[in-house]
Amino acid sequence: MERMVILTGAGISRESGLDTFRDEGGIWSRIRLEDVCTPEGFARDPDTVDDFYNKRRRELSTAEPNAAHRALADLEAAYGNMTDDAFLLITQNIDDLHERAGSENLVHIHGELLRLRCLNCGATPLWATDCQRNTPCPACGQPHLRPDVVWFGELPLHMERIQRALERCEVFVAIGTSATVYPAAGFVDEVSGQARTVELNLVPSGNAGLFDEVSYGEATTIVPRFVRDYLAENLL
Ligand code: APR
Repeated sequence: MERMVILTGAGISRESGLDTFRDEGGIWSRIRLEDVCTPEGFARDPDTVDDFYNKRRRELSTAEPNAAHRALADLEAAYGNMTDDAFLLITQNIDDLHERAGSENLVHIHGELLRLRCLNCGATPLWATDCQRNTPCPACGQPHLRPDVVWFGELPLHMERIQRALERCEVFVAIGTSATVYPAAGFVDEVSGQARTVELNLVPSGNAGLFDEVSYGEATTIVPRFVRDYLAENLL
């Protein structure tokens, strides 16, 4: 099996009922990202930020992984026990649908919706319910919790591990992302010429011209097809 890196975005969770950001009617068409997805917005009005993420946690609690999430878990399983990131799934999504579908070699470059971070003691507790300004940290008891997600202007996570995997990958697949936000939007550029690059999306992303292969349609159709064809060609 070839060394593979997969990058997913909000489009892979769309058919699980979770909104994307930039499609028509998407999240950023309803609320200003400056108000809920920046440190300045949180400092200015933390209650609005709490409400935004509380609503998304409630939506996630009734969402299920879809066939695209499951297909990526099946693809990872075909790699068996890995000593290194021969297969690495990088998601920009903060939902836990990849985990619930069975993915394990996975990093959340923008953090996790079901985790908070204590600004007093640094604890990062799992958290599936609402959080308010007076919610005490389970570790230190202080009421200084924030979502453990990466806001605009903050450093993305797991970048050393991501760079190592990108430097050695032979196949790079971008799924359900508009290629709007860096550094994730720049990964295809980094591996072009070294890896075979594939875009699986509803419509061409801003990076479409950079990919060797493209396939357009709904993720629950095109991702299982990609995985089935790849395994048929590579599992001799
Ligand atoms: N199947 C496949 N792709 C889809 C589907 C679907 N059913 N529905 C939508 N898409 C595609 C859209 O065509 C679009 O290209 O998914 C992409 C979603 O793009 P965005 O909404 O911009 O989401 P994403 O690329 O993940 O955004 C990146 O921006 O706001 C930040 O932190 C946030 O992680 C997010 C980052």
